[in-house]
Amino acid sequence: SPFKNAAVLSDSYSSEASKLADIEWDNLGFGLLPTDYMYMMKCSQGGNFSKGELQRFGNIELNPSAGVLNYGQGLFEGLKAYRKEDGNILLFRPEENALRMRQGAERMCMPAPTVDQFVEAVKETVLANKRWVPPPGKGSLYIRPLLMGSGAVLGLAPAPEYTFLIYVSPVGNYFKEGVAPINLIVEHELHRATPGGTGGVKTIGNYAAVLKAQSAAKAKGYSDVLYLDCVHKKYLEEVSSCNIFVVKGDVISTPAIKGTILPGITRKSIIDVARSQGFQVEERFVPVDELLDADEVFCTGTAVVVSPVGSITYKGKRVSYGVDGFGAVAQQLYSVLTRLQMGLIDDKMDWTVE
Ligand code: COI
Repeated sequence: SPFKNAAVLSDSYSSEASKLADIEWDNLGFGLLPTDYMYMMKCSQGGNFSKGELQRFGNIELNPSAGVLNYGQGLFEGLKAYRKEDGNILLFRPEENALRMRQGAERMCMPAPTVDQFVEAVKETVLANKRWVPPPGKGSLYIRPLLMGSGAVLGLAPAPEYTFLIYVSPVGNYFKEGVAPINLIVEHELHRATPGGTGGVKTIGNYAAVLKAQSAAKAKGYSDVLYLDCVHKKYLEEVSSCNIFVVKGDVISTPAIKGTILPGITRKSIIDVARSQGFQVEERFVPVDELLDADEVFCTGTAVVVSPVGSITYKGKRVSYGVDGFGAVAQQLYSVLTRLQMGLIDDKMDWTVE
């Protein structure tokens, strides 16, 4: 627990339940620590989002017939804010999250905030909660924008009203392994996404759909599941909550974005960083067999950042990578990306927003 005294969380996840003074910044994992404020903005079907506002963080009220509860009309985003040594706070490519939410909203028949509305709302929410941004090097403030059909529907149809909401929580490492390599198992029965489906957008149902395989994998001691494509059952797709990269010599390969894979912002950033560091990056179909003679494998995501993979098990055969810790390539890319995100190196790409 990140709390010095576990009792402070009690049974209520209200903003009163977590006290800043009780947080052990060296011990943050990836769990909800309620903060002070959340952002809310509503609009009707066919309308536009107009004025949102901050309110105290807490439970929200929904009609039992809300579209999101009954028919899964919902999207989420994830981005992070880092505190710099000079006390200022940096966001990383927030307009990319705004654009991805707009693409997802189109697929899910929802109205979405404009890029400016999204980015402004993120800034307001982070500033209102700035005391919860961890000290430099201790983690980040995870920002979770939601878009949901909040209006009541009974017959299957787009909801009549939509809510855009942002809440935040200080976080550290995503996997319980910390920065140690994770162990994956390839799932060859269950699939995450289908061609023509919604795998390529960040809709909430994609994440419920992976829980069964993930739970089974965790029960067997694995960190998470690596999915294969559902047509050939042969090409890598992604891990439940992150994208995958395979390193062989100077070539880094990752599954191409083709509708079933989440277009990760960390994925896209790591591709650019790797190219700028002299690697050749290929976005293509990556056969599962390539895992057998890969030099390194790593995952990328906002929550997981760059996570080294220590082993992958496929049909009972376990392949291990490296000794302990990061492989050299993952380490190099992690270091460049996180130093950029924390404002420690020159941001030539203009990715950070103060
Ligand atoms: C993220 O990396 O921000 C995600 O949205 C993945 C989530 C399952 C934690």
